[in-house]
Amino acid sequence: MTTGPISGALACRTLITLDADSGYGRIDDAVLAWDNGLLTHVGPRASAPTSVLQRLQPDAFFDGLVTPALVDCHTHLVFAGNRAAEFELRLQGASYEDIARAGGGILSTVRAVRDASEDALLDASLPRARALVADGVATLEIKSGYGLDLDSERRMLRVARRIGDTLGITVRTTFLGAHALPPEFAGDAEGYVDAAMGWLQVLHAEGLVDAVDAFCEGIGFSPAQTRRMFEAARALGVPVKLHADQLSNLGGAALVGEFDGLSGDHIEHTDEAGVIAMKRAGTVAVLLPGAFHVLRETVLPPLDLLRSHGVPMAIATDCNPGTSPLLSLRQAMQLACTHFRLTPEEALRGATVHAARALGLTDRGVLRPGLRADFARWSVSEPAELAYWLGGSPCAGVHSGGHPVA
Ligand code: NIG
Ligand code: FE
Repeated sequence: MTTGPISGALACRTLITLDADSGYGRIDDAVLAWDNGLLTHVGPRASAPTSVLQRLQPDAFFDGLVTPALVDCHTHLVFAGNRAAEFELRLQGASYEDIARAGGGILSTVRAVRDASEDALLDASLPRARALVADGVATLEIKSGYGLDLDSERRMLRVARRIGDTLGITVRTTFLGAHALPPEFAGDAEGYVDAAMGWLQVLHAEGLVDAVDAFCEGIGFSPAQTRRMFEAARALGVPVKLHADQLSNLGGAALVGEFDGLSGDHIEHTDEAGVIAMKRAGTVAVLLPGAFHVLRETVLPPLDLLRSHGVPMAIATDCNPGTSPLLSLRQAMQLACTHFRLTPEEALRGATVHAARALGLTDRGVLRPGLRADFARWSVSEPAELAYWLGGSPCAGVHSGGHPVA
């Protein structure tokens, strides 16, 4: 656990608060102050009260940009091994689905995870979490789904919690038992869903589950099976989200909307009925341009429909060994602008306030007194630069609840 002062003050050249429905909420020559992990003052230096100015240390001027810390709301970063060999196969023409049907893909990572001890899994996963934090992230969602039996799913979720404790950041865990069918349940998806619903109860009772997800797809689980998982979540009062309409339109976005889900994720093949269902339920659209990029997809998410219906768009890395070995959320913002034509402002909102909402968190994602002192410092001149640079990192530091964590 990283420790440090939970009260402090900082002056900076430019503050990006995002504290308005549109625009960056830009304040030049600004001051930020926090107490006990919560922001107490956000505003121009010229109008800051003397009590705040007195708290500024002589070296407390940052000659760059300060934004809300980034929120990565969709990752599978706890895993063992890697799938570089499949990357090579895909470059030779095999599709993601071909590889999955041949027993590779997700199931090859399942084999590696089942063979790994909890400590080995932590050792393999911590550097990935550190890389995300070093590029601005202070809140991270981590899914299970590479264990597919009770003990291995538990191990993944325990490692996720340990990552949060070790790095001093917020980790939200998601049970993704319905990710793939493990070999011991071959031909019996219904039986597997029954088993996974039982594990959900156990793991939830152990305090390991903040949300429930499923992979609703031809190579994953059917809408009817997904619905059963969602009903089990609802019975426990656990919110749901969904890998929806990534490779085909099975009505996943409409289904997650029907369950008042936190988010519908991927959604490349979602139609207008799905978008309307998400809007009605307040479900966030989580765009995952890393997977789109790596799989060389061509069908874009329904961006115009999302905008015209006013569905908030979040961006996440989807960090995983198969479709998105992506270790920077800022890089995902870049890909979202390039592939999906998001504006840099939409990308920053997508990686902060909308991503927080996709996790059901209303205490972060913008800089406003009363909210968490989760902020990132960047050695850039303009906010658009955050979604502009490829590679490297302009991140000069990250605070989580007032603590420096990077
Ligand atoms: O979000 N689509 C399902 N889940 C992941 C990929 C997992 C994997 O291939 O290991 C995704 O793309
Ligand atoms: Fe995913």
